[in-house]
Amino acid sequence: MMLARDEEILGDVIFTAAEIRRRVRELGRRITRDYQANEVQLVTVLKGGVFFLADLARAIRCPVSLDFLAISSYAGGSQSGEVRLTKDLDESIVGRHVLIVEDVVDTGLTLGYIRRVLEQRRPASLRICILFDRPYRRLVDLPIDYVGFELPDLFVVGYGLDYRQRYRNLPEVRAVKPEALALPER
Ligand code: IMP
Ligand code: MG
Repeated sequence: MMLARDEEILGDVIFTAAEIRRRVRELGRRITRDYQANEVQLVTVLKGGVFFLADLARAIRCPVSLDFLAISSYAGGSQSGEVRLTKDLDESIVGRHVLIVEDVVDTGLTLGYIRRVLEQRRPASLRICILFDRPYRRLVDLPIDYVGFELPDLFVVGYGLDYRQRYRNLPEVRAVKPEALALPER
């Protein structure tokens, strides 16, 4: 397989690894303060959220446990926000303090769906923590309790975010060049 070279694809650094590290620690401190001695059930959406989760969990001083969901959007890029759970949680969340951890929210359709599904399971509380937000792209109202950064209207990669499954492992967040987004997959 021929891969386009990184310099054809990657643009400016939007957030450095150090900036992200600092902000994740701040979020961890706020969560620790808010939940006090309660156990927090961190629920993360595969795959993009796991890098954020790994750092956030280590910045939280309350007891935490981890669980994972995987989803796939219905074909055709439906605007309904209907997504299919391809992997459900391992554990029950009834009566637990659940904090959803996600990488980025745009329209809010994906996370809105997940939130509705989890709410029906009667957790003691349900909050949302995201690292990146584009609030100006929101189509549905979604209460978000913790936000790391607001993102400009650019497609970005790194720290869990991918472009065609690549670049999740970049320690910083970078823009993808607009010309690269138009390239056919190869
Ligand atoms: P929403 O349903 O419109 O809120 O879409 C959010 C989802 O789109 C995220 O979970 C990501 O998978 C994806 N996404 C949004 N913006 C970016 C980006 O800049 N880079 C990579 N993935 C993104
Ligand atoms: Mg995601």
